[in-house]
Amino acid sequence: MGEDMAGVEFILLEKVDSTNTYARKNFDSLTDCSVVAAREQSAGRGRMGRRWESGKDLSITASAVLKNLLQPFHAGIVVGLAGLELIRESVPEAFSYLKWPNDIYCDEFKVAGVLSEGVFSGGRLQGVVSGIGINVNNSTAELRKNSVSAISLSEIAGREFFLEKMRLELAKKIEKYYIMCQLHFDAVSALWHRENRLIGEKLVLDMPDGSSKRGIFTAISDTGAMLLRDENGTEFCFDCGDVKIDTSLIDFNSLKEKHIT
Ligand code: BTN
Repeated sequence: MGEDMAGVEFILLEKVDSTNTYARKNFDSLTDCSVVAAREQSAGRGRMGRRWESGKDLSITASAVLKNLLQPFHAGIVVGLAGLELIRESVPEAFSYLKWPNDIYCDEFKVAGVLSEGVFSGGRLQGVVSGIGINVNNSTAELRKNSVSAISLSEIAGREFFLEKMRLELAKKIEKYYIMCQLHFDAVSALWHRENRLIGEKLVLDMPDGSSKRGIFTAISDTGAMLLRDENGTEFCFDCGDVKIDTSLIDFNSLKEKHIT
């Protein structure tokens, strides 16, 4: 099924292994900024080789084809800001923010994750496929079998959501941030930094090799890496990892106030 919105092609698949895999396979024939969504994914993928599980019509699973970015990590900025805006509009009662590198949280719980993958041909980067999974009508009990920190929008709001409308809204927001990224990158980048509300906070970063590092999250570099200062004042730079939220270290009330502009 294909649906044309002003400028952006939106494709809704009944069932697919993974919208990211589909968008990568069909990258050449898909137009720039098209969004491929699926009602069901049989082999959804998350960051660091993890699976992204979701039953039919329980969550939003969608991937954007972005062919005109200055840097691959800008795909996460576009899709992350679009997802955050959709989540904020859906659950205005929650405190929603971006959590480095590619998650969207409501308070201390994860509602969405983004997986961006470069598409190469002849050794050259052709563009990026950036997929987002948003927990919408999932039961939180089911989600927590895989991730203790997960939550769904319906659990927060106490009601079910209409996924069809939300998928289209997401595609429109992706288009909006993609255009803004090309025309006013500095403004979009500043917004993205501002929405990464854990900057300035004490936290623990779990690394893929099983080790972890504790420190203050001082900034995000121009290439999207996390800068973490340890207790000796030494600054470390990390390209990936999982930020662990320790509620005894972070005061969510002051976090909300601190970044209001
Ligand atoms: C993460 O939090 O680890 C990222 C999860 C990304 C999941 C989405 S669902 C749509 C798209 N297709 C996939 O296979 N993965 C992404």
